[in-house]
Amino acid sequence: MKRNTQLTLKVLNATLLAVVMCACAPVTVTRTASGQACRPEAAKAMAVKDHCMRCHGLTKQKEGPSFSVVAKRYRGSPTAEVDLYAHLTSHDVSMMSDENTGVHKCIAGENPEKIRNMVRWILDQ
Ligand code: HEC
Repeated sequence: MKRNTQLTLKVLNATLLAVVMCACAPVTVTRTASGQACRPEAAKAMAVKDHCMRCHGLTKQKEGPSFSVVAKRYRGSPTAEVDLYAHLTSHDVSMMSDENTGVHKCIAGENPEKIRNMVRWILDQ
């Protein structure tokens, strides 16, 4: 019984510590050039997690265009956010660098709000 109580206390302590650490972690919300709220750190983390950065750099051309080139391409387009959201959630056919067409990575299974956040971040590069 005593051991159980100690274990419970340890678990409780660890949980409390985790909660405090999460509450203190800074969540930066910025505004994109077009005035949209954006959490750049979360967007970047998602791009890394989903292996986007394997084919895209922020400014470096890789297999895919850099995000700054994409942002420039869509600047001033009122449908930019909707267009890129569709691109990332629809198995769009892409022209890959070896001139074969391939299917672009689809992240339709991700949380829509998180996808929108990443799209805003891309459009703000
Ligand atoms: C296997 C390589 C590869 C991966 C992985 C990849 N992309 Fe791409 N992406 C490309 C290529 C090549 C293009 C250019 C052809 C095109 O526009 O479809 C492209 C185009 C784009 C565009 C521009 C679309 C447009 O309409 O101009 C965006 C935005 C983009 N990718 C975002 C992403 C994101 C976000 C991820 C991660 C979820 C990702 N890509 C993963 C290769 C990749």
